[in-house]
Amino acid sequence: MSKYTDKLTKAEDTYTFDDFLIKPGLSSIEPKDVTLNTKVSTNYDLNLPVVSSAMDTVTESSMAISLAREGGLGVIHRNLTIEQEVKEVKKVKYANELTVREVITISPDETVEDAQEIMDIEEISGLPVVDDNDIVVGIISRRDIKPLRGKRLNRKVSEAMTHNVVTISEDTDTETALDLAYENKVERLPVVSDNNEIVGIVTMKDILERKKYSNAVRDKNGRYLVAAACGPFDMERAMALSDAGADIIAIDSAHGHKTDIIESVREMNKNVESDVLLGNIATAKAAEDILKAEINGIKVGIGPGSICTTRIVAGVGVPQLSAVSSVADVAEDYGVPVIADGGLRYSGDIAKALAVGANAVMIGSLLAGTTESPGEMTIRNGRKFKQYRGMGSLGAMTGGVGAGKDRYFQNSGSNMNSTKLVPEGIEGVVPYKGEASQIVYQLMGGLKSSMGYVGAKSIDEMHEKAELVHITPNGMSESHPHDITITNESPNYHPRQ
Ligand code: XMP
Repeated sequence: MSKYTDKLTKAEDTYTFDDFLIKPGLSSIEPKDVTLNTKVSTNYDLNLPVVSSAMDTVTESSMAISLAREGGLGVIHRNLTIEQEVKEVKKVKYANELTVREVITISPDETVEDAQEIMDIEEISGLPVVDDNDIVVGIISRRDIKPLRGKRLNRKVSEAMTHNVVTISEDTDTETALDLAYENKVERLPVVSDNNEIVGIVTMKDILERKKYSNAVRDKNGRYLVAAACGPFDMERAMALSDAGADIIAIDSAHGHKTDIIESVREMNKNVESDVLLGNIATAKAAEDILKAEINGIKVGIGPGSICTTRIVAGVGVPQLSAVSSVADVAEDYGVPVIADGGLRYSGDIAKALAVGANAVMIGSLLAGTTESPGEMTIRNGRKFKQYRGMGSLGAMTGGVGAGKDRYFQNSGSNMNSTKLVPEGIEGVVPYKGEASQIVYQLMGGLKSSMGYVGAKSIDEMHEKAELVHITPNGMSESHPHDITITNESPNYHPRQ
C-alpha cells in the first residue's frame, strides 16, 4: 500500500547540464581537425549543429540568413500572419540566389543611348542583347560604350555590342562560372537554355559573395536552407510555408506528446513537401509515440529555457540532459535526429547535449540581443540591450497574432483578455551582443575544443566516445572562475546571473 510514497521513492533521478562534465579522453584530435556537420532532420544536413529558436525576439529572415551562411539553421517564428511568415521564408530563399531571373535586356535594334539610359536608371553595368525570340545575340556594357566618347550614340546596339558572349547554362557550378568570368574578363554571365534563350544572369559580385560563405547550407538549387514554425493544427499555414520553399516545418507546441497533435501532424506530413520536426517532448515514451507521425526530427525540452516558467507555473518538466538522452536513445534506433531545445548557456552545454545524443541544439537567449534578432535596441545606464521574451509570456501571447496562446493551449475564446491568460514565460532584456556570426564562432570554438578533449573528430564520434562524470554542486562551483574579480569580459564567458 505505498501507491503515493512510491511516487517519491521510485521516482527517476534526472539531471541537467550543471550535473555533469565531459571526461577528457586519449586524443589525437586538434580542435581544427574536427568537422561539425550533422543531421537536423532525416533529409537535411547542417554544417554546424546550431538552430535558432522560433521566437519573435530571435528569428526572422535576418537571423535565418546569417545562420544559414554560417552553416546552421534559423526557424522563423510564427507570431506572424501566414502572409508575413511566408514573406520571411521567401526573403531567406531569395537572399543569395546566384541567377537573377528577372533580367533586363535590350534589343539589337535599339540605340546605344537607350542602353546607356537603362544602365543608368537600373544602376547596372551591362545588358544582354536579345532578339524577338529572347535568343542572346550579344551583350552591351559600359566598356563597349566608353570608347565612343559620347559620339553617335544614336547608332544601333548591334553596332556597338560585343558579339561573342560568354554564357553559362543553369547547371554550371560556381567555380566554372568564376573561372570563365576571370578568363574572359567579364563581370556578368548570361545564363541560357539549350537553344540560347536567356534564362537569367549571374554576376561576378554574386559569385564572390557566395564563395565568401563556403560553409553555408543550401538546398539543391543553391538557396539557403530555412525552417519555419507552425502550429500543430494549422494546415493552411503548413501548406503555405511548404509552397514558399521552407525546407523544414517545425511544429511548435509546449507539449507535443498529445494524441490529437500526433494525429494532426501525421496528416500534415502527407500534405507538405518540407521535412517536419515535432516537439517539444521530454521522455522516451513521448518519442516512441510521436515517431508514429513519421516525422523527420524531434525537438526536446520542456521548461529548460532561460525565459521559461513552465516548471514553476505547472510544476512540470524534465531536466534537460536526462530529457535529451532518453529521447535520443529511442530516436537513434529510428534514424531520426534530435534537437536539444533550450537551457544552453555556454558552449560547454552544447558539447554536453551532443554527448548525450543530440544531433543539434536550438538556442534562444544566446542569439537574442544580436544585430539580427528582431526588436528595438534600448540603452540603460550607457549599455545597449535588446528585448527577449518567452513565447508563453503575456507580451507574446497578446502581441503579434498571439501564437504563444496556441503554443500553450490557451486559445479558448478568441477575445480572452490578458487577465485570463496564464503565462508560462517571462519578458526581459539581454545585453546587445553584436553579430550572430561572432556568437556562433565562439560557440563552435568551444565545441571544437570539447571534441578535441574527447578525441572525437565528428559529431557521430562525439555520440560514441564522450563519457560524462557526475559532479556535485561543489564541482560546478570549482568549474566557474572563482576568487577573482573579472576585469576584462571574455567573449565566451559571462558569470551566471
Ligand atoms: P533558451 O534557454 O535558449 O531557450 O533561451 C529557448 C527555448 O525556450 C522555449 N520557450 C519557452 N518555454 N515558456 C517556456 O516554457 C516560454 O514562454 C517559452 N518561449 C520559448 C523554446 O523551446 C525556445 O526554443
